[in-house]
Amino acid sequence: MCGIIGAASSRSVGKILVNGLKKMEYRGYDSAGLVLNNESEAIQLKTLGKVANLEDLMIEKKPRAQSGIAHTRWATHGEPSQKNAHPHTSNGTIYIVHNGIIENHDELRERLSNDGYKIESETDSELIAHLIHSNKENGKSTLEALIEATKALDGAYSIAVIDTEQNGKIFAAKQKSPLLVGRGIEENFVASDPLAIAGLSESFYLLEDGDFAVITQDEIKIFGSDGEGVSREETIIDTRVKEVSKDGYKHFMEKEIYEQPKAIANAIEGRTTEGDVLDNIFGLGSSESFNRVKRIQFVACGTSLHAAKTARKWFEELCETPCYIDFASEYRYRNPLVEDDTLFVCISQSGETADTMAALNYAKEEKYLGIVTICNVPTSTMARESDWKIFTNAGPEIGVASTKAFTTQLAALMLLACSISKSKDINGEKRAEAIEDLVNTPALVKEAFGLKKHIDDIVEKIADKKNALYLGRGVYFSIAQEGALKFKEITYIHAEAYPAGELKHGPLALVDETTPVVALAPEDELVEKLVSNLEEVKSRGGTLYVFGNATSKIKIEKGKFMNMPDCGYYNAPIVYTIPLQILAYEVACSIGTDLDQPRNLAKSVTVE
Ligand code: F6R
Repeated sequence: MCGIIGAASSRSVGKILVNGLKKMEYRGYDSAGLVLNNESEAIQLKTLGKVANLEDLMIEKKPRAQSGIAHTRWATHGEPSQKNAHPHTSNGTIYIVHNGIIENHDELRERLSNDGYKIESETDSELIAHLIHSNKENGKSTLEALIEATKALDGAYSIAVIDTEQNGKIFAAKQKSPLLVGRGIEENFVASDPLAIAGLSESFYLLEDGDFAVITQDEIKIFGSDGEGVSREETIIDTRVKEVSKDGYKHFMEKEIYEQPKAIANAIEGRTTEGDVLDNIFGLGSSESFNRVKRIQFVACGTSLHAAKTARKWFEELCETPCYIDFASEYRYRNPLVEDDTLFVCISQSGETADTMAALNYAKEEKYLGIVTICNVPTSTMARESDWKIFTNAGPEIGVASTKAFTTQLAALMLLACSISKSKDINGEKRAEAIEDLVNTPALVKEAFGLKKHIDDIVEKIADKKNALYLGRGVYFSIAQEGALKFKEITYIHAEAYPAGELKHGPLALVDETTPVVALAPEDELVEKLVSNLEEVKSRGGTLYVFGNATSKIKIEKGKFMNMPDCGYYNAPIVYTIPLQILAYEVACSIGTDLDQPRNLAKSVTVE
């Protein structure tokens, strides 16, 4: 979604703000803007498109000031345009940047128009500036005016504000959208993501919903919703600069694909012993409570949802526990019936996804046994709001298309399945096999990188197509779904995944000479059935690109068979993910899409 940053410093902040926006560009990239507060005047710059355009404008104009706020946008209300880009102003004195969605914007727009405000943009965000201005006109201080303004807002927001009459101060508010305050040396910051101020601060205050902050170059003050000062714990976050650089790779996505052996090893490290999982790796009391788990409810979005779908079989086999899996965006609207001793599990790379967060908040009011979060960002709201949690320790994922987040989520889900199985004291042998497979995964993932040379041969044959089908059976259908999602989001070629046995019930009509069909054929109990399904594709002239074991009896006349490493039963789904990521990446490179920031998308979707 959008990224916001504000800085108050003893030095000029223009460069700090633009560098911060660049590091948050994964959150939105259709326009960018900033405002600097220079003694008596505000200098505002806005550009359409990438932050680099704003940087060019900065180089041209060379504005200087010791405080300012900035924004990179992912459009929700109103098209990407100069007019809709942030910051928004009221009367040239109040300037705001906003991340989130104001749900009652129609009503506020009408009210403010009736009060005589001329609303220049189509955004919900501009209204916040007018509300603050109007409250100030009624005699309130800037902080009071901001607090009062938020009382009129329904929805989610993190807001940073500049008042030209309060030089050197940044005001901020948070409700259901991430915002933190960073302490630097002779400078302080607010930002949506600690990465934005990597290298400038390692000491953060994570604002809670309903918090407000006022920062100057040498002071940080945090207030509760009643305007009284509150103290928030100082958290040290290691924002190593190296992890937010491409490190010689062409794209973040490429770097993140090839980081997976290390990321998966980090996800497992310190959590297993010889043949088993350690107790309480999900937090104190987790092992004790997990022996009561009778059912599991998973919620997640996109790639994280595919992780839940893939892992379901592990929970059924190792814990003998039925699982329900819901799109987080749908879960609470079906009025789910919650049975006793159901564990609620959220999966999220960012830990901030609004749909998943809303599902978590809903679940808190229901009689779940407890809430577990699997996420990659320790400072995230989901992590803080859960009873138990495990961090995937994958390191920052910047590419919008999730790669290492997915495989490390699978590793964490395997640890959860093993933890529940251990607490119930069942299936010890299978658990030992699962743990052994998990420990062997990084080496197999490394081996799977060797498939790139075969994938290179098929890239050009796929890059000019309009549609692709992805097939798998059992858990490999979920891996096929993840492969198809990756492929469509960065190549813009339509791709759809089907359980291979479902083909004849409709989608086979799509297959002709122009349709590449990517299939996953591990040597398992379903492979023979899959082979028959692939015959159906062959006889309709479809081109098959199959990842499988050489032992499987698949003969391909048109297309290519690519031999996978010899995997274990439990780690094969993780390893089969790798060639699908490489395929999507290489096809997108050949087409020339902006694959770290694909069109219309953003990472960390903090609006519903
Ligand atoms: C796809 C992708 C998205 C995310 C989804 C959930 O490559 O990255 O589908 O998986 O938006 O995000 P998180 O995991 O942060 O909740």
